[in-house]
Amino acid sequence: MDELPLAGRGCVVTGGSRGIGAAIVRLALAQGADVVFGYHSGEDRARALADELRADHPDQRCVPLYAHVADAGEAERFATAALGRLDRFDVLVNNAGLTRDTLFARMGPQQWHDVIGTNLDSMYTVTRPLLMPLVKQRGGAIINIASSSGLHGIPGQTAYSAAKAGVIGFTKALAKEIGARGVTVNAVAPGLIETDMTAAIPPDRAELLRSLIPTHTFGSPLDVAHLVCFLASDRARYITGQAIEVSGGLVV
Ligand SMILES: NC(=O)c1ccc[n+]([C@@H]2O[C@H](COP(=O)([O-])OP(=O)(O)OC[C@H]3O[C@@H](n4cnc5c(N)ncnc54)[C@H](OP(=O)(O)O)[C@@H]3O)[C@@H](O)[C@H]2O)c1
Repeated sequence: MDELPLAGRGCVVTGGSRGIGAAIVRLALAQGADVVFGYHSGEDRARALADELRADHPDQRCVPLYAHVADAGEAERFATAALGRLDRFDVLVNNAGLTRDTLFARMGPQQWHDVIGTNLDSMYTVTRPLLMPLVKQRGGAIINIASSSGLHGIPGQTAYSAAKAGVIGFTKALAKEIGARGVTVNAVAPGLIETDMTAAIPPDRAELLRSLIPTHTFGSPLDVAHLVCFLASDRARYITGQAIEVSGGLVV
């Protein structure tokens, strides 16, 4: 039988306590990885997830750590602690994110800063302290969770679209900087995925959005996790600098 695609790999995932991040943590463990994942407000949920996954995978590491990715000092503490909990470090998944949807004319400065801080500043605060270990070992993968909103622009999401477009620009530039060092950098851009983030959408708007998706369904967190874990594996070693949608063909 083939070796599991992430066997022996050390992965760090931000925002792993629920939703898409939790699905990535779960699948990475199932594919053989050791995982350190961040939580912010959901400590109990994160600990429960880690307990469950350690029981399923007793020979692998699954470690939840507090992380506030919008804060440079906190993110650096998280990165250092994460490296200390892994025998080797190969994969960073920048997944933590949030929305504060409102029309731009009504958007207050705090909403803008919350969205830019968590979704875009985190590309700097988390990636910066974790980059050199990957570059020095001349191998690894960075996967940044963007959004269809960043590719196409969605009304009511100006800050979020700006942040996620920034994530894609960051991804493409960094891929060019470190491609020769054997480190790939890609963005995964989910469309509408069933998590707490989309549960907040009013039913009539959700219905309208569903009609814009050729498959007429929202995706599942696992749909996104499959692509992330593929990009994290050696099977994707010749893919870098890409922004790949997982959106059921969403047309906006
Ligand atoms: N769901 C979708 O339809 C969709 C579509 C496109 C893109 N995305 C992107 O996919 C990623 C995951 O989204 P999701 O739907 O899974 O969201 P979610 O269910 O709302 O979960 C968000 C995750 O981010 C963490 N987080 C939030 N603020 C944080 C902060 N300041 N510092 C550290 N962690 C923080 C949360 O941790 P706690 O729970 O511990 O606070 C949680 O684990 C995000 O980047 C999101 O923008 C989602």
